Amino acid sequence: MADEIRHPFLHGLSKHRGSPPTVIVIFGASGDLTARKLIPAIYNLAHDGLLPADFYLIGFGRKAIPDAEFQKIAADAIKEFSRREMSPEVWSRLAARTLYVSGGYDEKAAYDRLGERICGLEKEIGQPLQSLFYISTPPTVFAPIIQNLGASGLARRHLGQAQQSKVIIEKPFGRDLASAQALNQELTTVFAEEQVFRIDHYLGKETVQDLLVQRFANSIFEPLWNRNYIDHVQITVAEEVGVGSRAGYYEQSGCLRDMIQNHTMQLLALTAMEPPVSFDPQSLRDEKVKLLKAIQPVRLEGPDSDVARAQYSAGMMAGKEVPGYLSEKDIAQQSATESYAALRLSINNWRWQGVPFYLRSGKRMARRVSEIAIRFKRAPGSLFAESDRFNIAPNTLAFQIQPDEGLSLILNAKVPGLETRTQPVKMNFRYATTFGSNTPEAYERLVLDAMVGDGTLFIRGDETERSWQLITPILAHWAKEGRKGMDSYVAGSWGPAASAALLAANGHTWREP
Ligand code: BG6
Repeated sequence: MADEIRHPFLHGLSKHRGSPPTVIVIFGASGDLTARKLIPAIYNLAHDGLLPADFYLIGFGRKAIPDAEFQKIAADAIKEFSRREMSPEVWSRLAARTLYVSGGYDEKAAYDRLGERICGLEKEIGQPLQSLFYISTPPTVFAPIIQNLGASGLARRHLGQAQQSKVIIEKPFGRDLASAQALNQELTTVFAEEQVFRIDHYLGKETVQDLLVQRFANSIFEPLWNRNYIDHVQITVAEEVGVGSRAGYYEQSGCLRDMIQNHTMQLLALTAMEPPVSFDPQSLRDEKVKLLKAIQPVRLEGPDSDVARAQYSAGMMAGKEVPGYLSEKDIAQQSATESYAALRLSINNWRWQGVPFYLRSGKRMARRVSEIAIRFKRAPGSLFAESDRFNIAPNTLAFQIQPDEGLSLILNAKVPGLETRTQPVKMNFRYATTFGSNTPEAYERLVLDAMVGDGTLFIRGDETERSWQLITPILAHWAKEGRKGMDSYVAGSWGPAASAALLAANGHTWREP
């Protein structure tokens, strides 16, 4: 066995980017995310020859099950959720290294057993293993897991060497500023910041990384990327799904915590930050933090309020009637949890002063679409003054994050004919057309990056705290107000009137992406 597993992972050809021999331990092995995303991501990395030759996966959970049963669970997850069909050859290699350790998250002895199992593997292959602990449990057990990784010595395995332990921590990273600070404190008593990988899966999306390429590998955008040419920016993360079976989680969270504090703020930071000196983790994250620091506190009340929230009411989606938020399963009748949130933000720095940034996210919206739309100022002058013949639209550059990933630019063109008429036209770049559609899932990129120790696409401790600092006063205000001021929108629509009003105050309207 020892000789066999020293072979590179697939067909003797390992293309991995320098990850040392690794064991990934998933806490929360029977969870939804593990089945839907993590195991399929690891499988696809194996398929692409991106795992190190010596690689193991250990599921850790409360339920006592033998290795073989966990292997079956993993196989079923791959069959159902992997973007690629399961290849028996790749799977049999991976299955042989897929193991399970059971125990309570607060049971020190279970961590000792885990440590013994890892030591046993190291003896078998005659090499030290990097331990990558993936915390994918409900947040109530984050602290005991971190503490026990510390107490058992697992956090300090091979410290200072290429195989030093690392930890990936899933969302939600806190529920307000104080709890995020407390969690950072827990983590940094046990791990050094460079060992910690706070995940936001939006950063693993191809198109989010493409935003950095578009901004910084092309010279045509930068001269226009400021208050002199940009009128405002709209960031939309719209979902068609409702709360579904996640009421237990969602009622405690709401849209602001679930989507805005993390995913949408990250899109904003990458869109508006200054060019980093390099893409190393420190430089890129420094720029994001600087940007987040320049965002002004929002106004919470009165006609100038910068925030809007709402719940969906019953409506039609894809020809089917769907219930309103308050009638969904396990939702409190008087729930004050928002399924939609919108913010109007001002960034007080040299580049952006006076340019509104509008953010919105919601469930049960008209269409699943995430986009960043940069709306440019109108061309000056009177050459194309208002007239029926001139239909002039403001230039808009829209990054479509998902689905139908791509980039489009709205320009004004002459309609062919003997008189001068104009019409807005769209220049389109579509990923699927240019590159084909089988792009890696966000989790593949992020798991690989953590394995090689590259934190660029993960959230730094100070970054998450700054984002919570902006969001927490809104949460506190809404908690105090209860249902007062809660707007509604019909399921299948583009959102509530209160959100349109945030833009109307500046003479703007939401785009229909
Ligand atoms: C998760 C939220 O972080 O992101 C979910 O908890 C949401 O509520 C999901 O549905 C959206 O992710 P994606 O990748 O489907 O846009």
